[in-house]
Amino acid sequence: MALLDAIFCCLLTIWHCQRGLGLPLAPSGFQSPAPAVGQFWHVTDLHLDPTYHITDDLTKVCASSKGINASDPGPFGDVMCDSPYHLILSAFDFIKNSEQEASFMIWTGDSPPHVPVHELSTDRVISVIANMTTTIQSLFPNLQVFPALGNHDYWPQDQLPTFTSKVYSAVANLWKPWLDEEAIHTLRKGGFYSQKVSTNLNLRIISLNTNLYYGPDVVTLNETDPANQFEWLESTLNISQQNKEKVYIIAHIPVGYLPYSMSTTAMREYYNEKLIDIFRKYSNVIAGQFYGHTHRDSIMVLSDKKGNPINSLFVAPAVTPVKNALQKQTNNPGIRLFQYDPHDYTLLDMLQYYLNLTDANLKGEANWKPEYILTQTYDIEDLQPKSLHGLAKQFAIPDSKKFIKYYNYFFVSYDSSVICNAKCKAFQVCAIMNLDHKSYVDCLKQYYVRHNL
Ligand SMILES: *[C@@H]1O[C@H](CO)[C@@H](O)[C@H](O)[C@H]1NC(C)=O
Ligand SMILES: *[C@@H]1O[C@H](CO)[C@@H](O)[C@H](O)[C@H]1NC(C)=O
Ligand SMILES: *[C@@H]1O[C@H](CO)[C@@H](O)[C@H](O)[C@H]1NC(C)=O
Ligand SMILES: *[C@@H]1O[C@H](CO)[C@@H](O)[C@H](O)[C@H]1NC(C)=O
Ligand SMILES: *[C@@H]1O[C@H](CO)[C@@H](O)[C@H](O)[C@H]1NC(C)=O
Ligand SMILES: [Zn+2]
Ligand SMILES: [Zn+2]
Repeated sequence: MALLDAIFCCLLTIWHCQRGLGLPLAPSGFQSPAPAVGQFWHVTDLHLDPTYHITDDLTKVCASSKGINASDPGPFGDVMCDSPYHLILSAFDFIKNSEQEASFMIWTGDSPPHVPVHELSTDRVISVIANMTTTIQSLFPNLQVFPALGNHDYWPQDQLPTFTSKVYSAVANLWKPWLDEEAIHTLRKGGFYSQKVSTNLNLRIISLNTNLYYGPDVVTLNETDPANQFEWLESTLNISQQNKEKVYIIAHIPVGYLPYSMSTTAMREYYNEKLIDIFRKYSNVIAGQFYGHTHRDSIMVLSDKKGNPINSLFVAPAVTPVKNALQKQTNNPGIRLFQYDPHDYTLLDMLQYYLNLTDANLKGEANWKPEYILTQTYDIEDLQPKSLHGLAKQFAIPDSKKFIKYYNYFFVSYDSSVICNAKCKAFQVCAIMNLDHKSYVDCLKQYYVRHNL
């Protein structure tokens, strides 16, 4: 383990040097040269459980365990519970003390805990989101943050409406320090917005409210374009294209198929197809897509109808380690840093950080550390669609060592002995490379034939 740590340290050092990181800030009064790389943080699924506390009665440690015994509760949490405030603070403290220069942060939703509906209310949901917002704003007063709403950022959960609401209005007020007037206006109306990055003037963030497309949302049943978000998205992308901007898409619920089950899209299939069509049409404007919600670490590559890779998508793992009683696996808490080319915003690399929860509780201190560097761990050039597509093809090879790694990282190194059998692997690999119905079904069929499943 010590040896591995040492190797990782070396890799990190190399990585820092190559990318020109860790440079001292230019002395004030001097014009600092444009940095060789831009960086931004991605945090998601904080799921604060304000009731978390250490007590002898294990059923009473946290409301989010729903009466089940906590498994091994410590100061930084428990796998049966959502995040104690202490865990979330440790993540943000780590970011603050990391000495990484980041030009912004994206935050893709789900702040309230997983508890029965009657234990929350509109006011409680707003107060948790307000708590997280204030926490971030007080630790990073000079950092622009781009939030997206999650399906838990509403009461009752999942029922996000297509018109203004108390929650949309509350977040519009809370997030004013980060967003301009037009963004606040659409956020208040429908829970989505677009906003230019103030430090990167040709980069636009489009924050979608994909919760409107989530299966359990009964408000949007039968609607072809909830809150007219598709129409707004197309016209926003069209204007960006005309203005020669690049766009990062951020949202909570991802497009595409869930990597851990067969033939299940994360959002309703109809909406998934609509979004895929729009993303294909404007793939030359979209330089990256970033999601949360699954609590797992996964990648996706969008291809055009001929099968050429055209977009890279990243689903970030959660900060909360929570699982339900039936699940064997969960994730360690994770956060990540992306690197991009500041000239055209193409994605260069991603560094995943994690907290070994068992170890943190054992030692009583949160030792957040790098888990992997995407290009180095998989030996690829960059994060461009072509590179990720090539990687996914390597994953598909039987006994691929790279895929075994990928599956361990999927759970944020929670349990390296976990095994993905042939069927499990078919779902994973097909979900990485196929986001629309037709190509996904073809992929599973071919995979089944090829591997005699
Ligand atoms: C919790 O654990 C205690 C003993 O540690 C046991 O008596 C009790 O039945 C458990 N409760 C549940 C809900 O599993
Ligand atoms: C957020 O909630 C935690 C836990 O309930 C509390 O300790 C903390 O003071 C709150 N912080 C803010 C900024 O509201
Ligand atoms: C949606 O359409 C179905 C079938 O057309 C209908 O049964 C259902 O009541 C509709 N739901 C809503 C919320 O309009
Ligand atoms: C963008 O909008 C313009 C004007 O409304 C239209 O002519 C053009 O076809 C649109 N571009 C795309 C890719 O749809
Ligand atoms: C996490 O910490 C525990 C306890 O220190 C240790 O046994 C385990 O190997 C660690 N896991 C990883 C992935 O380092
Ligand atoms: Zn979540
Ligand atoms: Zn969610």
